[in-house]
Amino acid sequence: MAKTLLIPKILLLLLFSSQLDPSKASSVPSKLDGFAYNGSGPWKDSILIEAFFDPLCPDTRDSWPPLKKVVEQFSPRVSLIVHPFPLPFHNNAYLACRALHIANKLNSSSTYDLLELFFKYQEKYYNGPTASASRTEIQKDMSKLGAFALGNSFLADFENGFQDSSTDAAARISYRYGSSRGVYGAPFFFVNGFLLPGAGSPLSYTQWINILQPLVQNNGGRNPMLSFYL
Ligand SMILES: *[C@@H]1O[C@H](CO)[C@@H](O)[C@H](O)[C@H]1NC(C)=O
Ligand SMILES: *[C@@H]1O[C@H](CO)[C@@H](O)[C@H](O)[C@H]1NC(C)=O
Repeated sequence: MAKTLLIPKILLLLLFSSQLDPSKASSVPSKLDGFAYNGSGPWKDSILIEAFFDPLCPDTRDSWPPLKKVVEQFSPRVSLIVHPFPLPFHNNAYLACRALHIANKLNSSSTYDLLELFFKYQEKYYNGPTASASRTEIQKDMSKLGAFALGNSFLADFENGFQDSSTDAAARISYRYGSSRGVYGAPFFFVNGFLLPGAGSPLSYTQWINILQPLVQNNGGRNPMLSFYL
């Protein structure tokens, strides 16, 4: 009786000790997830916006033009990182997020071009129109979109990207990163690490101005090189 009770306890102890041992924390990725807009080195002296985007989500699509406008207006006082976050009820969203990682790997300058192409042609990847399409057909179609962003000579490379386990790993990390931040919809926005209210809905240009204007004014002294933009 005592023995049978002891064994599960030992197993439990082993389980917990391996989870608590930081050297076994292999689930930590080697770099931060996401795509920095315009290749800007974020954080340091700027206000950081993190956007969790599902490339196949209409609210995400609608949230992009005002966000892009405001980031360009306030750059370099404001930086942007987009994290791909596939919503589980959009059947092709994971492949679209993976496609963004493929584009980013082939030429990081093309990532946002592909994101905008997904927004433009989003409807053809919705659940209804793709109900009878195979996964391979969808990957081929997304590769064409990728080649449109990167240049036609990249078509084969893009298709091969779907066989590359590192792009699968990167897309999984994106998903896990969003989950670890409590993201469960799109678009979700964090500013300097804090979740903005109204998550899951697009913000208008005026709403963004109202959020960012006071922050830009308040952190003016942090970098003398930048205070000049104020
Ligand atoms: C993007 O980079 C170019 C060249 O470095 C710069 O002129 C432009 O202002 C940048 N745009 C944004 C939004 O950061
Ligand atoms: C990546 O894309 C940019 C912009 O389209 C282009 O200027 C650059 O030459 C490309 N780099 C490579 C290695 O193809």
